[in-house]
Amino acid sequence: MTQVNFISNPAQSLQGEIVVPGDKSISHRSIIFGAIAKGTTTITGFLDGEDCLATLKAFKAMGVKIEGPTAQKVVIHGVGKYGLLKPADVIDCGNSGTSMRLLAGLLAPQLFDSALSGDESLQKRPMERISNPLTQMGANIVTTQGRPPLTIHGGHSLTGITYEMPIDSAQVKSCLLLAGMYAKGKTTIIEKGVTRDHTEQMLSTFSYPLKISGNSITISSDGECLATDINVPGDISSAAFFIVAATIIPDSEIIIKNVGINPTRTGIIQILRQMGAKITVKNKRLSGKELVADLLVQSAPLVGIEIPTELVSLAIDEFPVIFIAAACAKGQTRLHGAKELRAKESDRIGTMVEGLLILGIEAEGFDDGVLIEGGVLQGGTVDSYNDHRIAMAFAIAGAVAGSPVTIKNCANVATSFPTFVKTANKLNLAIEEFRK
Ligand code: S3P
Repeated sequence: MTQVNFISNPAQSLQGEIVVPGDKSISHRSIIFGAIAKGTTTITGFLDGEDCLATLKAFKAMGVKIEGPTAQKVVIHGVGKYGLLKPADVIDCGNSGTSMRLLAGLLAPQLFDSALSGDESLQKRPMERISNPLTQMGANIVTTQGRPPLTIHGGHSLTGITYEMPIDSAQVKSCLLLAGMYAKGKTTIIEKGVTRDHTEQMLSTFSYPLKISGNSITISSDGECLATDINVPGDISSAAFFIVAATIIPDSEIIIKNVGINPTRTGIIQILRQMGAKITVKNKRLSGKELVADLLVQSAPLVGIEIPTELVSLAIDEFPVIFIAAACAKGQTRLHGAKELRAKESDRIGTMVEGLLILGIEAEGFDDGVLIEGGVLQGGTVDSYNDHRIAMAFAIAGAVAGSPVTIKNCANVATSFPTFVKTANKLNLAIEEFRK
């Protein structure tokens, strides 16, 4: 198989205006709810990355007529809540944990059997966090020693439960909300921390009743999704790479237009501001039920901080690039309470510490976090371990390193940000992609 690598060269100041592709979490959910809605849903700004395309293909395999994506537009002819058909094959979720965990919740109450598998990285990720509560609801779901592939035996009617989530996870919450849409009685999910609430927003956009009270969410089978139009905002998790780049590359000033700033996602802005970043939120507006804005980012010197644990779940996907910001900050940055980073597309504590050490930064990993001593980044060769966000984070590091940084195994950047290199270079970054 050809290996995709990046070389990221030292860059001059960043200038200009960009848009980033559609939000990954919202794109997945727009397909899921569009598919089980009554009527035709049109999605614009859809992220045509491999992860969301895996979700889209899954619904095609279950008999849903879907047109596109063409120029980020998708039209879904919803089949209604009870209209999905048995897929002929195992559903391949590729690299996407969101596809697997959300689909499991929707498939558990169906009348037909199904199976979900994924790539090498996804096969290593924990699935008992969903199979345990789904089993409590009456589902028959079999994992492979707690991991994918998953086999789901249909025809088991589910009963609502009250479930206090032991970990902060929007994927688990969303899985159980989907299952709860088919369960007898009420399903209540209680969260300890705050996790992204796109499923709740999307249910309400599709007119499905939901009761939210403090940190508990209750759903039942009394409802129906009604088709609607969705305009997906730009993904703040993709914008994050350029927010950090413009902050750490001297004399930069950039605008990232139309970025989703749902308050359950803006931990990156809060953390970087505490470190000294200059990020201005402009033209705040609503796109459907989601808040969006244009972000003005100007370079600024950073200082190391102790990252508040309550911000961890609000910035969970942004830590690889936050660690690059920490490597460029004066003093130490310490993170705790982020054990979940070890269960992402790679072990993000291990892979980031390994790469930072290679680039001459003092870093130490803990079970649940890191300690990074800001310093001067040097060039070198690091491995992303096929993790898209690790690859993009080190590409940003290369811009401020003394000599080029080579990043190995970057093909999975296509899962969330297929146009990353092009967008980066539009802002004066100097990233080359090569295959071998
Ligand atoms: C996501 C939730 C988060 C996040 C992932 C997308 C979602 O995962 O890391 O990239 O769309 O619900 P967890 O629920 O495992 O924290």
